[in-house]
Amino acid sequence: MVVGVESQRRVLLISIHTAHSHTAAPPRTTRAPSKRQANIATGNAAIAIVSGALILGNVVMGTSLVPALLGRGAPFVKTAAAKVHALFGDKGLLRAGPTSLLPTPEPGRSLRLVDLGSGDGALLRAATRSAGFSATGYEINPFLVAYARARSTSGPGSEQTHWRSLWDAPLNEADVVLIYGTPHIMGRLGAKLRDELRPGAIVVSNCYKLPEGALGPIVKRVFVDTPRWSADVSSNLFAYRKA
Ligand SMILES: C[S@@+](CC[C@H](N)C(=O)[O-])C[C@H]1O[C@@H](n2cnc3c(N)ncnc32)[C@H](O)[C@@H]1O
Repeated sequence: MVVGVESQRRVLLISIHTAHSHTAAPPRTTRAPSKRQANIATGNAAIAIVSGALILGNVVMGTSLVPALLGRGAPFVKTAAAKVHALFGDKGLLRAGPTSLLPTPEPGRSLRLVDLGSGDGALLRAATRSAGFSATGYEINPFLVAYARARSTSGPGSEQTHWRSLWDAPLNEADVVLIYGTPHIMGRLGAKLRDELRPGAIVVSNCYKLPEGALGPIVKRVFVDTPRWSADVSSNLFAYRKA
């Protein structure tokens, strides 16, 4: 009997001790990361963002090279800002005015501009916002199409970008066509413009001339001083009027 009471007392003491040792454990706290850990995390995030941007950039540029490699168009090179200004800025080549090359629009209608290979849509935006054109782009690179659409807003004219080959773009309604090609497609482009454009339509070609006789003589040549670091290396814009 004495043994029984003693063993019960021991069991009780052990339980109290165990319970006490559990409650006595220091509370678990989440320590704030040290400054060094925070710096490492920020560095890792920055590396991930830069790597992501580089990979995306390479994908976009790689996609843009495909038509050039297949001989169907130029790779993506943005028209230099100085040339955009020479086209659509005050007194630009494609601004309305007494000495303008532009045909007279029908009453109540904007002139229609088409950019064949419209890239990131910068020319479309300038055409609608600065000069009131109704502007349509044809672009083969889906990333550039998405970018151009995301940046388009309703300006004085309207602006749309089709994800479609420039070779399938209808030109019979266009008043102005912009091209920025490569030497190997200028012959085929000249034939398309000659066959589809209405008389009086204006074509402006960045960098490269159309083959002689495709549309008639150059009606205006604009020399633009592009910066040396510009990807758009040539300084010339060539304007033609369909006879
Ligand atoms: C030299 S960039 C000009 C971009 C823009 N027009 C500008 O001046 O800033 C030529 C563009 O044509 C596009 N392109 C090339 N081949 C094409 C094709 N067959 N159909 C539609 N777009 C094409 C390229 O992806 C590129 O964006």
